[in-house]
Amino acid sequence: MKNILITGGAGFIGSHVVRLFVNKYPNYHIYNLDALTYAGNMENNIDVEGKENYSFIKGDITDDIFIKEIFEKYKFEGVVHLAAESHVDRSISNPNEFINTNVIGTANLLNAARTLWKDNMEGKRFYHISTDEVYGSLGKKGLFTEETSYDPKSPYSASKASSDHLVRAYYNTYNLPVVISNCSNNYGPNQFPEKLLPLSINNIVNKRPIPIYGKGDNIRDWLYVVDHARAIDMIYHDAKAGETYNIGGHNELQNIELIYQLCDIMDEKLGRYKGESRKLITFVTDRAGHDMRYAIDASKIHRDLGWKPSLEFPEGLRKTVDWYLDNTQWSENILSGDYEKYYEKQYNNR
Ligand code: NAD
Ligand code: TYD
Repeated sequence: MKNILITGGAGFIGSHVVRLFVNKYPNYHIYNLDALTYAGNMENNIDVEGKENYSFIKGDITDDIFIKEIFEKYKFEGVVHLAAESHVDRSISNPNEFINTNVIGTANLLNAARTLWKDNMEGKRFYHISTDEVYGSLGKKGLFTEETSYDPKSPYSASKASSDHLVRAYYNTYNLPVVISNCSNNYGPNQFPEKLLPLSINNIVNKRPIPIYGKGDNIRDWLYVVDHARAIDMIYHDAKAGETYNIGGHNELQNIELIYQLCDIMDEKLGRYKGESRKLITFVTDRAGHDMRYAIDASKIHRDLGWKPSLEFPEGLRKTVDWYLDNTQWSENILSGDYEKYYEKQYNNR
């Protein structure tokens, strides 16, 4: 039995990675470490709870003493690090939380792994999950490759870029067997409803305005979360230490085009007349420093590891809508209390 630590496993992407690893690798014991911030939700792990090779640990990666203790206790042989503050808008109003969790938290994990593994790095792996946002914003042409210079523009992406640099520095300086991947925007089940797609789905269901920043012409490259988890599995097991992989959906869409597609599917599923949901679209004040375009060249991961997305976007979008409509209780549990306060603060004066 190998003990593997997955951080942030009660969040959106982390919960899909936990599910995949627990079910696919009975010879791993998966420890899901999560602080259960507003974004963490143990309901996301309901289907693995009680499995023999799964344990949940509530804890904060910014607590260096606690992190050292759990590394000593469980002697982890691998780390898949997803825990982070992840929402750009929150990083604009509260950058320090992002610096603490994303930079200091990552440093604590690196230090604990280095201390535990220093005499024998054989078979060990520290996998840091990052974002394409570290590369900054693209113009009309071009794609982010693994060689693109870092140019982060938001406190979120700057904190993720800092953590990526630390991870590479630990490889270079201490031979820590690290791998990094930088992925484009994910969508799918279990995403916290502050992000564009689930926020819009919930607002359409409740006939609330769909807030679109600026002109809605910003472009993102959307990937179904299960395909990201598949890529993480491949990179964790097959990438060489020190490597970086970009992961993307080959699926660039302007925000407004994405929301049009969503509205049309929602009308069909909710039995509303065609065009009804589009009427909810409301253009609001743009995000400060809003990156215009992200797009990933994912040819390296395809060439080296044989990964490519398994789902076309229209199918992934339908599956996502179905999941939210079938799991209204999941959303309702979140959409009360703190979320409403956040929503009012974020959107009321836009
Ligand atoms: P999320 O916000 O849904 O989940 C983050 C999880 O981390 C939550 O469960 C939260 O409780 C936990 N967490 C936060 N602070 C913590 C702390 N101090 N200690 C322990 N746990 C803590 O985020 P997500 O969208 O699932 O993203 C996961 C990772 O993937 C992040 O590192 C993010 O930067 C990266 N990423 C996300 C996307 C995307 O589109 N969502 C794309 C590329 C990369
Ligand atoms: P988001 O889901 O926050 O992801 P990211 O900022 O990490 O790409 O936003 C996706 C896009 O949607 C981004 O261009 C900002 C835009 N957006 C809106 O137009 N309205 C909203 O209410 C939100 C949350 C995002």
